[in-house]
Amino acid sequence: MSAESDLPPNPNPTARSADPSASVGIFDSGLGGLSVLRAVRAVLPHERLIYIADSLHAPYGKKDDDFIDDRTTAICRWLVAQGAKVLVVACNTATAQSIALVRETLAIPIVGVEPGVKPAAAVSKSRVVGVLATQVTLRSARFWSLLERYAGDCRFMLQTGHGLVQAVERCDTSSPELMALLESYLVPMLDAGADTLVLGCTHYPFLDRAIRDIAGERLQIVDTSVAIARQLDRLLDADRLKNDAPADPMPRFCSTADGKSQRQLAASLLHLDATVEHVHIPSRRTSVAESDLA
Ligand code: DGL
Repeated sequence: MSAESDLPPNPNPTARSADPSASVGIFDSGLGGLSVLRAVRAVLPHERLIYIADSLHAPYGKKDDDFIDDRTTAICRWLVAQGAKVLVVACNTATAQSIALVRETLAIPIVGVEPGVKPAAAVSKSRVVGVLATQVTLRSARFWSLLERYAGDCRFMLQTGHGLVQAVERCDTSSPELMALLESYLVPMLDAGADTLVLGCTHYPFLDRAIRDIAGERLQIVDTSVAIARQLDRLLDADRLKNDAPADPMPRFCSTADGKSQRQLAASLLHLDATVEHVHIPSRRTSVAESDLA
């Protein structure tokens, strides 16, 4: 994925007066956004971070549009209520479906993510590029508009990553079942001459090693977490929201589920021994189901 190609101007002038020492709020349907959080920590080490995984409701990639709108809006509102000065929707699916709605509803600068079609078209030599993403992302108007603008003479092979988000959510990045699933997606791309693979879902960077084990050096992997962090950096500069004083290096980790996998992945990916707060974020489509669980 990459940061959105055309970042709209901040629609809300009042947000510019927010406190620079406030947190950057990062959201994903689950644990995938941790790959973005890792890049944000590297590029912006002074920022306080709050990460929320809606793991109770992941994956979003097969849900209906209204469900994704409902959850994305509820979670973004919650981050604003926690005092976030800016939001990163670190989820291609939520960006594709709901970012326009959230921007209409919330008066806060927002960075979204989208599959790295543009960088892939720039680097592919064979002019065949594979894209792995969720069903919602691949069918979205935003994604098709990216292809129209940037695919050029490249052939893009689109593959829904059925089962991959669920595997990462249970911290499975190397089981024989996962490897077989990944092979079934990657081998047809390799056979067709693809030399570049776009990771169009923030969960998939966790599968980097598994992809390498299957494809070796035959596929260049386009993972643009760092581009997203740089986009955030530019936005904070433009809105004079950058925190210049060193902040607590430990992000605040929150989850709508029990947080066990988040803790495990934070340890292996970020080398952070984090505690994860369980939070309850009701929304129109889930409040009944969640109260049943309580
Ligand atoms: N990390 C999310 C994305 O980038 C996964 C979506 C899902 O939950 O299916 O699309």
